[in-house]
Amino acid sequence: MSEERTDPPTRTHDGPGTVYLVGSGPGDPDLLTVKAARLIDEADTVLHDKLPGPEILDRIPEAKREDVGKRAGGEWTPQEYTNRRLVELANEGETVVRLKGGDPFVFGRGGEEAEHLADAGIPFEVVPGVTSAIAGPAVAGIPVTHRDHASSVSFVTGHEDPTKSESAVDWEALAATGGTIVVLMGVGKLPAYADELRTAGLAPDTPAALVERATWPTMRVATGTLETIVDVRDDAGIEPPAITVIGDVAATRERVVGFLETAGSAPVADADSDPAATDDGGTGQ
Ligand SMILES: C[S@@+](CC[C@H](N)C(=O)[O-])C[C@H]1O[C@@H](n2cnc3c(N)ncnc32)[C@H](O)[C@@H]1O
Repeated sequence: MSEERTDPPTRTHDGPGTVYLVGSGPGDPDLLTVKAARLIDEADTVLHDKLPGPEILDRIPEAKREDVGKRAGGEWTPQEYTNRRLVELANEGETVVRLKGGDPFVFGRGGEEAEHLADAGIPFEVVPGVTSAIAGPAVAGIPVTHRDHASSVSFVTGHEDPTKSESAVDWEALAATGGTIVVLMGVGKLPAYADELRTAGLAPDTPAALVERATWPTMRVATGTLETIVDVRDDAGIEPPAITVIGDVAATRERVVGFLETAGSAPVADADSDPAATDDGGTGQ
């Protein structure tokens, strides 16, 4: 490891403080980067939503946490509020961490916040994180690429803007590509895009998997095929946050899951496994 840094990242002159757009990784505190952990410790305020997960959020003192995720009543904090708050805190001279699940620039609105901060003249830095799009499948035993099965991978959103008349995701093209398809925010719309992919010619027996709350103590995995995955979702009661993986790589899990369980390095329980049958109460830990 490199020499320990002793100087604080806070401003060295009068003027606004710095905003750090930080990725928390998928939820396991051990997957926070060293830099993310240091910045969280040193920040005056940490603006977060729920996606970093309970284990990471519980480590941040309440006094410096501000939740800008879902509000009581189920509504989301408007993005404009978060943008405004980042600028306000920085202008008060604070060092601010904007903590986001996974990587801040992968379906995380980090790009919008960076543009807003640049427009407002606020110094900021982007601190990449381990994205759930790769880590989620990985801890479930699914490599997103594999020399024998997939030489490309596409990361897409399943949750489209309802005001758009046309899908921004070209499911037909994805079906034709033949690589791995990783869908984020794709639990609710699973029936629609599974159907689109089948209609576009993707074989119904293409392996598929859902990885729910990847790396959290409550992580679950459910597997099936393009044809069965909606029923699998419903039977297991899979809910967001979850990653959908579609492609031959999803079948790799079957061959390695026994070893993952033995190693105990990650909770890998199948969603339909009987919690009472394990010593850990079903957390897979
Ligand atoms: C708004 S996107 C944010 C993605 C995030 N920036 C990342 O790089 O992982 C939210 C979606 O990410 C996925 N996600 C994030 N964390 C997850 C986790 N620990 N397990 C499963 N899916 C996760 C889910 O698909 C969720 O609906």
